[in-house]
Amino acid sequence: MYKRYLITSALPYANGPVHIGHLAGVYVPADIYARYLRLRGRDVVFIGGSDEHGVPITIKARHLGVSPQDVVDKYHNMIKDSFERFGITFDIYSRTTSRTHHETASAFFRKLYDDEKFIEQTSEQFYDEESGQFLADRYIVGTCPKCGFERAYGDQCESCGSTLSSNELINPKSAISGSIPVLRQTSHWYLPLDRYQDFLEDWILNGHKEWKTNVYGQCKSWLDQGLQPRAVSRDLSWGVPIPVEGAEGKVLYVWFDAPIGYISNTKELLPDTWELYWKDAETKLVHFIGKDNIVFHCIVFPSMLKAHGDFILPDNVPANEFLNLEGDKISTSGNWAIWLHEYLDELPGKEDVLRYALCANAPETKDNDFTWKDFQTRNNSELVAILGNFINRALSLTQRYFDGKVPEINDLTDYDREVIAEIPVIRKEVETAIETFKFREALKKAMDLSRLGNKYLADTEPWKIAKTDMNRVATILNISLQISANLSIILEPFLPFSMKKLRRMLNIDALEWDKLGTANLLSEGHQLAVPELLFDKIEDDVIEAQINKLQATKKSNASPPPSPHKEGEQVSNIAPQKETIQFDDFGKMDVRTVTVVAAERVPKTDKLLKLTIDTGLDTRIIVSGIAEFYQPEEIIGKQVCVLVNLAQRKIKGIESQGMILMAKNASGKMCLVQPSEKIDNGAEVG
Ligand code: MF3
Ligand code: ZN
Repeated sequence: MYKRYLITSALPYANGPVHIGHLAGVYVPADIYARYLRLRGRDVVFIGGSDEHGVPITIKARHLGVSPQDVVDKYHNMIKDSFERFGITFDIYSRTTSRTHHETASAFFRKLYDDEKFIEQTSEQFYDEESGQFLADRYIVGTCPKCGFERAYGDQCESCGSTLSSNELINPKSAISGSIPVLRQTSHWYLPLDRYQDFLEDWILNGHKEWKTNVYGQCKSWLDQGLQPRAVSRDLSWGVPIPVEGAEGKVLYVWFDAPIGYISNTKELLPDTWELYWKDAETKLVHFIGKDNIVFHCIVFPSMLKAHGDFILPDNVPANEFLNLEGDKISTSGNWAIWLHEYLDELPGKEDVLRYALCANAPETKDNDFTWKDFQTRNNSELVAILGNFINRALSLTQRYFDGKVPEINDLTDYDREVIAEIPVIRKEVETAIETFKFREALKKAMDLSRLGNKYLADTEPWKIAKTDMNRVATILNISLQISANLSIILEPFLPFSMKKLRRMLNIDALEWDKLGTANLLSEGHQLAVPELLFDKIEDDVIEAQINKLQATKKSNASPPPSPHKEGEQVSNIAPQKETIQFDDFGKMDVRTVTVVAAERVPKTDKLLKLTIDTGLDTRIIVSGIAEFYQPEEIIGKQVCVLVNLAQRKIKGIESQGMILMAKNASGKMCLVQPSEKIDNGAEVG
């Protein structure tokens, strides 16, 4: 047996909220595992955090016109908050922009550099002359050489899933400027994975045959193809700077720094004892991840750890497959997802129902589908009808016949004995399933205990016997209450909110796992609290509302923007409709009617006017690129629309506080958007 456990869960990119795919694949199983081990009294550290580097974050920032730090601040806080509300019990949820992480990742690189574990190679990489920078990974788009998809990225094709390198793309283009990039020499550090091939083959293929077949299979296929050196640096400004002289403008590749985040976050949590968790062979390290992360956690990170030399390796990497939603792949950009923060707002108090549905239907061995109908059935036919019903009957009958006091246990029948003997059997099955990362099975077995209880009550019918034999009723209810108390332990890792509620009804404190399996958890005469319903039925209208929400997304994703021309007519080049947003996205924009009170040209520019506007709220300055279309005197006195809550920006040395709304056609002609009649300044447009 291991002395301690170090559980890590993939650090989500802080460029969007968390959705049910993340939860089912990574966080729900990891949390069940952590809670289970804690209940068993084991020494456990459960690490989470945001992955805040990488090109997608900088691209998002560029799109929004904000800094990468703004993007990660927003999503880190949002993700952290929603995990907390959902009951994911990280011991720490930190971030890779933290100081500790920058120092740790930097020192890690430096050690490998000093120990000559890298090779340095100069190669030709795409360079965008317009924006003056090298184009790493997702900054380059082009046609996938494997499947022909036209918007494949420099590191991956999202259509066929192939891992790519940017020089394989057909017709590469810069994602920043759209221009055709040129090749330029640049030098990078590579981790020569080929040097670790033998070690990995022995460690995984011979040493970890117990790993899940999907994980083992992916590793084998990488190893069979033969490993190649992988670049660990990038020409970017966002990331952990390479701590080597002459490496200005280079940062660690995000997949080099992110897994080191597990170490940094442990350090931040336990400044004095973190090394025990990372360097002592009696620690069991387990990485919870999704299948797209397998190569990084089973091949790359272990090679890094091995190269470093001081660290233990993962004992297991129970990666899950993907969860689909209503038959389609979950997509962040297509908004095809159930977002955790929205779920928590829209279905308050139903954290456990989602935990249950995601675990019961977890994509452990193959991709699985989440449907709202299944979610409803899991709640109504399992949580309500089996677990809730049993608890409710046991507690209300005790209330009715024994004033809510645990009745005494009298002579046992053979059937009673069989039922009691079943509890430790179920315990063992649940333990084995959890310890081999079969959480669906574990949950099903744990629920078997409530099935057992239900059947016991149905078979013994205490409400009938109550007329004749109160001693027998006492025994039956005592046993039923003991089963309820056992349930409060065995289901705790899976349904923590409801088990807390159950303990409140049973009027007991949390019990350790070791108490599980016996029929004497509640002593005779113990006073129970007044029972409430453990779960509520979910009605059709709730489910329909969620399905309608998804259908609206699907409709707007599928239907092309209405086309003004008929077949045969000349096709105009109207800009295509942008990706679907939610009402809330629009609601964030504060557009007001304002009057231009003064206007002048910005010196030494052709396009810019400096406008003084009356917003009704205040008088402020906006710099606007409309000088080609309007003379200053033409625009004074006009009422126009302005986005007033746009972050302030400095343009040609002038602080501009907002943006004038303009319509712009394909040939670049622009005109002001004006209210159709005069209205107060400061009126809200929406
Ligand atoms: N951000 C990555 C993803 O969402 C996961 C990073 S896991 C870590 O796919 F190991 F790098 F931390
Ligand atoms: Zn492809």
